[in-house]
Amino acid sequence: MAVIEIDNLKIAYADAGSGRPVVLIHGYPFNRSLWNEQVEVLSRNHRVIAPDLRGFGESDAAAGTATMNRMAQDVALLLDHLQIARATIAGLSMGGYVALAFYKQLPSRVRALILADTRPQADSEEAKRTRVQQAEQALSEGMASIADAMLPKLLTPDTVSKRPDIVKRVRDMMLKTKPEGAAAALRGMAERDDQTALLAKITVPALILVGAEDAITPVADSEKMNHAIAGSRLVVLGNAGHVSNLERTEEFNAALLDFLSEPSN
Ligand code: MLT
Repeated sequence: MAVIEIDNLKIAYADAGSGRPVVLIHGYPFNRSLWNEQVEVLSRNHRVIAPDLRGFGESDAAAGTATMNRMAQDVALLLDHLQIARATIAGLSMGGYVALAFYKQLPSRVRALILADTRPQADSEEAKRTRVQQAEQALSEGMASIADAMLPKLLTPDTVSKRPDIVKRVRDMMLKTKPEGAAAALRGMAERDDQTALLAKITVPALILVGAEDAITPVADSEKMNHAIAGSRLVVLGNAGHVSNLERTEEFNAALLDFLSEPSN
């Protein structure tokens, strides 16, 4: 593990392999270990950077609100530190919100985009209120109650009943998350910009992946993104829910490798 300091916070990250850089941004409330299998496979031909976003994994948490723009700036500062001018930016779910915020702020630093199990739209008013309640819940009750409520929405019923290894891994990541970090990210997601209008302005190659049974960011959201981003490619992974890279690792990796093998990506 490597660490840099940003904004008086220690930010941990993995940096593996060499070649064209790819940044993997995890979702909520996970950490960079979400990407272990992708780091292993992609780093054979690429330089793979996987940060723990502020408040997650081995990175420090700050009280208050961790906006998607702030997390995107953290990623940009990490790339500055690593002297990487331009990279393929990949994000799953909240990581996708961060990837879109990154593209909006710094399009010239994005070689290609990979958007997994995510969506462009902002939260509804009701969803915002739920986020604020969940932030209070994380702080007052800890992450176990958040994990219990989220797990059935993250994975397919099949994964829950037949893949105890994945259930444990997802649960462990959630339990490892600092309540202050989760609360800050929840407030940040509630405040996030609607990026729908940005999609038509994306001029880099884009790969969109989604689990066919994703209950949090459904296939319809990915279809809309695929329609709005010129020349994008959509891969729907059967028998997968919201954490499709864990539930269908081989197919997910194959889609990534295929996309990244193109000279422009
Ligand atoms: C995630 O997986 O990052 C979150 O479920 C996204 C969200 O809650 O909107």
